Amino acid sequence: MIDQAAHPSPFQDRRVLLGVAGSIAAFKAVSILSVLVQEGAGVDVILTEAAAKLVTPLTFQAITAGSVLTDMFAPQPDAHIPHVTLAERADVLLIAPATAHTMAKLSLGLADNLLSATALSTSAPLLLAPAMESGMWLHPATQEHVARLRERGATFVGPESGHLASGASGVGRMAEPDVVLGALRLLLGRNGPLAGKRIVVTAGGTREPLDPVRFLGNHSSGRMGFALAQAALDQGAAVTLIAGPVSLPRPYGLRDYVSVTTAAQMAEATLAAIAGADALLMAAAVADFRPANTAEQKIKKEKGAFTSLPLERTSDILALVAREKSPGLKVIGFAAETSDLVANAQDKLRRKALDLIVANPVPATFGAGESEVTLVDRAGKVTPLPRQSKRAVALRILEEVRRLEP
Ligand SMILES: Cc1cc2nc3c(=O)[nH]c(=O)nc-3n(C[C@H](O)[C@H](O)[C@H](O)COP(=O)(O)O)c2cc1C
Repeated sequence: MIDQAAHPSPFQDRRVLLGVAGSIAAFKAVSILSVLVQEGAGVDVILTEAAAKLVTPLTFQAITAGSVLTDMFAPQPDAHIPHVTLAERADVLLIAPATAHTMAKLSLGLADNLLSATALSTSAPLLLAPAMESGMWLHPATQEHVARLRERGATFVGPESGHLASGASGVGRMAEPDVVLGALRLLLGRNGPLAGKRIVVTAGGTREPLDPVRFLGNHSSGRMGFALAQAALDQGAAVTLIAGPVSLPRPYGLRDYVSVTTAAQMAEATLAAIAGADALLMAAAVADFRPANTAEQKIKKEKGAFTSLPLERTSDILALVAREKSPGLKVIGFAAETSDLVANAQDKLRRKALDLIVANPVPATFGAGESEVTLVDRAGKVTPLPRQSKRAVALRILEEVRRLEP
């Protein structure tokens, strides 16, 4: 079970209505429900009659404390007209899997079962995860229904190409549960507090090549930057994530990902991305020095002892940003320090004309899922935060960013 206090989820306290239609992929809806419930969502489930033949309602009822219903006309003790009650309390309607038949009904506005009647009654945003054989998906009738639903504002996730239940391979496979959940969190965050804002985040370490096989690098895992990018997306921001070499899954819903290796590439990408942005969060650990020369061939050990390595300064990204940025751009720096955390952070804040600095003690935070940081702002306010998940830290930092004057 996920600890909500330590790891606040975008699904916490949200009311999700999960519609399950009659596809073999209905089993994936069970995993989706399980994650939503673990992350604190209240979930009601409607299975169509066809779905209830393929998966049992009892499986869903065992997972959620919400309603699990199929029959529009069955008496319900806690929902006197179920399709109206469920429609009103939903923050979002997710239909996963969505069959060709159910999508056709939604497109036409038919309301002959509990799922279609509720879909017609609700004003909650609609997310559909279609699943069907390629022939059904590609049929002009289905495509017309999909186009009409899109025009009305429905969001689609998938279908993907791959193995289908029939044994064939092609388009029509339902998106995997984590992809559906990613689309759902984006939809829920669409009108969040950062809606309409553009945020640039840098993450990970850089690598400065010594020869074709070696580099000077650092221990940054990219986790803090990725958590910031995800938290900003969850709050409705458009995010550009510029990352050094990292092995982390991309944040859900991220469209703009720029992969870089060296400090010079990070500088170039950052300067290009900040045009028109509202905030820059520099969580990357960028090399301050690089080898003065990069050997074209691998340096051979037979050549003797390697006694010195001439280095030169890399370009200072924050100084370049300070020179080129528009007045509206808020710049948040990160300082990883082995000593005098606050004094060094205050010094960096002043030298780089930052709006806020996040001071990180080293070596406690590299690669860890948690961190204990201190926020230092322009007015001199020093706010030490307790040790908490990087997601919780990210949410706290974004709270500060929202507070900065535009
Ligand atoms: C085993 C089985 C698997 C099916 N899988 C799908 C499917 O993946 N997608 C689909 O659109 N229809 C599928 N169907 C057909 C639907 O179940 C059928 O069109 C049904 O009327 C859908 O009703 P519903 O949309 O109300 O759930 C399947 C039928 C069976 C028997």
